[in-house]
Amino acid sequence: MNEPPKKAELVGRPPDTSMLPPTFDPAYVEGAVKPFFLSAKYEGEPQLLPMIDLALGKEAAVSPHIFGMLYDNWTPNMDEEGVTVFLRGYEKRGPNNERKRIYFSALTPDLYGPMYSDKIKQFLDYLFDDQNEGKPLLQKYFQRYFDMYWDLHLGIKGEDIPPEVKVIGSSFMAVLGFWYPTVQVVYENYMRVRHLRPLLKDWIDKRIQDIIDDRVPNPEKTMVYYWIKNGGLGENFRRKDIVFECFHNFLAFSQWGAMSYNVMTRLEATKGDSAVRSWFEKTMNGGPNESDKSTFTRLERFVMELFRTIGPNAGSLSVLPAMQQPFGTGHPGFSTILTPHAETSRDALNWKNPNEFDPERYKQASTSEQNDEARAKQVGLAESPFSKEDFQVRDGRHASITNSVFGAVYGRVDDKAYPVCDTAGYAPFGFGYRRCAGEFLNVGFFKDLLRKVWSEKIVFIRLNIDHPEMLPVGPRTVVPDNLGFKRTR
Ligand code: HEM
Repeated sequence: MNEPPKKAELVGRPPDTSMLPPTFDPAYVEGAVKPFFLSAKYEGEPQLLPMIDLALGKEAAVSPHIFGMLYDNWTPNMDEEGVTVFLRGYEKRGPNNERKRIYFSALTPDLYGPMYSDKIKQFLDYLFDDQNEGKPLLQKYFQRYFDMYWDLHLGIKGEDIPPEVKVIGSSFMAVLGFWYPTVQVVYENYMRVRHLRPLLKDWIDKRIQDIIDDRVPNPEKTMVYYWIKNGGLGENFRRKDIVFECFHNFLAFSQWGAMSYNVMTRLEATKGDSAVRSWFEKTMNGGPNESDKSTFTRLERFVMELFRTIGPNAGSLSVLPAMQQPFGTGHPGFSTILTPHAETSRDALNWKNPNEFDPERYKQASTSEQNDEARAKQVGLAESPFSKEDFQVRDGRHASITNSVFGAVYGRVDDKAYPVCDTAGYAPFGFGYRRCAGEFLNVGFFKDLLRKVWSEKIVFIRLNIDHPEMLPVGPRTVVPDNLGFKRTR
């Protein structure tokens, strides 16, 4: 009779994948499931300064089972197949975080009103159309979401988007939402993404050519236009990187779904959050565009406080070099470490009233414009760890992209600075050189959403549905589609 394996023999065994459904393609098991089993995620410490040390690297810092969604051979192949700034370590971004600055040149706040807000308002008009009243809202959200997405990236919507391009977007969302690669729904959607990705990349590449050849109306109303102009198709934003960014942004934009759901839930008439609702009324009644001599307007402060308290994403993800091989497998390991956002945003060391919903806190909080060399000395740093050379845009605007002493990138347009709140307690968009490049677009989207809700007297309601559809609305987030709205006329 065979003896059961001794404990010591179990150490060093590769993960057992024999219990996975036989329908799973062996390449998927090898490329996505095993790396997932071999990876661990550690939670790091809350931040006390608004920056993440360079020892915590960004290079390929993502859960390892995601690589097959991005690359043909299941592992990063950045030189050949393209890369996003999100997966590049600081030292590989070109001088002074150049790749990030090029990306950011498409997202400075001066662009929001003239270039992007119409596209967002069209989406919101559809979402809150009279005929959607009383219906599950998230289904409606996703019916037009990819029109807005491709309109913002490439100036294309409606019938001009091939059905496969919409399908791959939804499949990408499903993998992100349901997350675990052992689950059938993830498997099916994952394989669909892999099947359709060549078609998608080819389609994006042709549309980029259309922008280059001036065949897209109002090209300056697309993000790609700024990446072409300011990256010059050079080594720190190659054409294949633009293609890559366009579909990798499925991940970034997916967070609008989860955040919208959370905002609407807090505003919901009966079970919402009373502090949020009363601040909403106060903000909108009292002049939402007033800044009270501070950097951010009242409505911006309200949106920022929603982001801080909701914290749509768990944290900033990094890789650390392993000193010992993990899991005794002989494999170098795929583990990541998370700098936690909720804990940082609500740390009593960062705010006097961390658990209060208080938009007023941003009147005093430090901004990237105030965080200069003097501030670095004040907090005990001999110098800034990040260089501060300005990046001048080449798209015809009089604009430059700069950064705070902690690395947070922000813009200056026609001599007006557009800083971000640069304090550790404001964590939802991450920190320093690797902070979210889409922050102003995010805030703009939610400002427009809230303005619409207010001006059209929209009230959110929980719908009485027995088995609501469970929808993936963001990374690792699946929610019941039973939130609706009505107008109080
Ligand atoms: C609710 C919406 C969003 C939230 C909460 C969010 C949050 C974040 C966070 C926390 C990071 C830092 C991650 C890290 O350091 O590991 C990040 C990075 C990034 N985000 Fe967002 N994001 C959102 C939407 C967007 C959108 C719409 C865009 C593009 C228009 C975008 C573009 C980026 C990019 C390019 C990075 C990488 C920056 C770098 O590494 O330098 N994000 N985001």
